[in-house]
Amino acid sequence: MSASYEAEWRARFGDGAGLPQEPPEIPWLRQVLMRRTHRRYTERPVAEPLLRLLLAVAFSASSKSDFQQVSVIEVEERARRDRLAALVPDMPWIGNAPVFLVFCGDSRRLERLGELRGCEVDNGKLEGFFNAAIDAALVLQTFILAAETAGLGCCPISVLRNHPRAVAEILDLPDKVFPVAGLCVGYPAAAGHISMRLPLEVTFHVDRYDDSSLGQAVAAYDLRRDARYSIPREQQRQPETLGFAALYGWSEDKARQATQPEGQGFPAYLRACGFSLD
Ligand SMILES: Cc1cc2nc3c(=O)[nH]c(=O)nc-3n(C[C@H](O)[C@H](O)[C@H](O)COP(=O)(O)O)c2cc1C
Repeated sequence: MSASYEAEWRARFGDGAGLPQEPPEIPWLRQVLMRRTHRRYTERPVAEPLLRLLLAVAFSASSKSDFQQVSVIEVEERARRDRLAALVPDMPWIGNAPVFLVFCGDSRRLERLGELRGCEVDNGKLEGFFNAAIDAALVLQTFILAAETAGLGCCPISVLRNHPRAVAEILDLPDKVFPVAGLCVGYPAAAGHISMRLPLEVTFHVDRYDDSSLGQAVAAYDLRRDARYSIPREQQRQPETLGFAALYGWSEDKARQATQPEGQGFPAYLRACGFSLD
């Protein structure tokens, strides 16, 4: 049976350009097209059997070389959660969410397997770090999609990486186990908003990379986003140095945001916890 995804497509991209003709009807794909991050939750607890099921689904994600280099820590103890939340006071959802998980890249386990089996394993090179980080991201996103399918809402929290030493101390992370992101989980308190994505014309290429029409495509995208939601003037970043923009669109906002370095302590932290990153 073919279907039209026009409503979901427009919600995701802001227009109907590139809408596939007569694709098959797959309800779950409609749900994913309409997905969104949630940062406010009701007090309804997340039942433990559901949480375990979601973790099992999440760990079903693909894994580079079947190395399975991910560890997830659920932060149950109030005092530990409060200490994590205090690291980022402007994101109260870290402390308020019914469940808080931390998804870690685990480059340590493979070295421990080496010890157990009498093989010398150095998993601290860039490859070892990268593989574990990718695996953790895949488990994280699989958890999110599974949780959303179960009616939950989630918010990943990468700002933890701005405080890697404190996070490692709070969670007792050993060398070569590093936080990729926290995750707030709970039943959504509000419908939330869909964050419009760049068109496939920008993000999808055939046979060869080509970004020659980026400027035009992004300008049109900025206008579509602005028509749905204009960033208020008082939220423009760095007006004192960059001035106020007449059209302060997504690209202006992201370009300004990206001038401010983030996670600067992370490379030194990784080296201190055993990664050479060679
Ligand atoms: C790896 C990762 C880290 C994120 N870190 C944070 C964070 O620290 N705080 C936060 O409020 N949202 C965080 N987010 C949520 C993003 O802001 C959100 O996914 C993005 O704005 C797109 O919105 P959508 O998920 O609703 O489409 C993160 C998302 C990802 C994938």
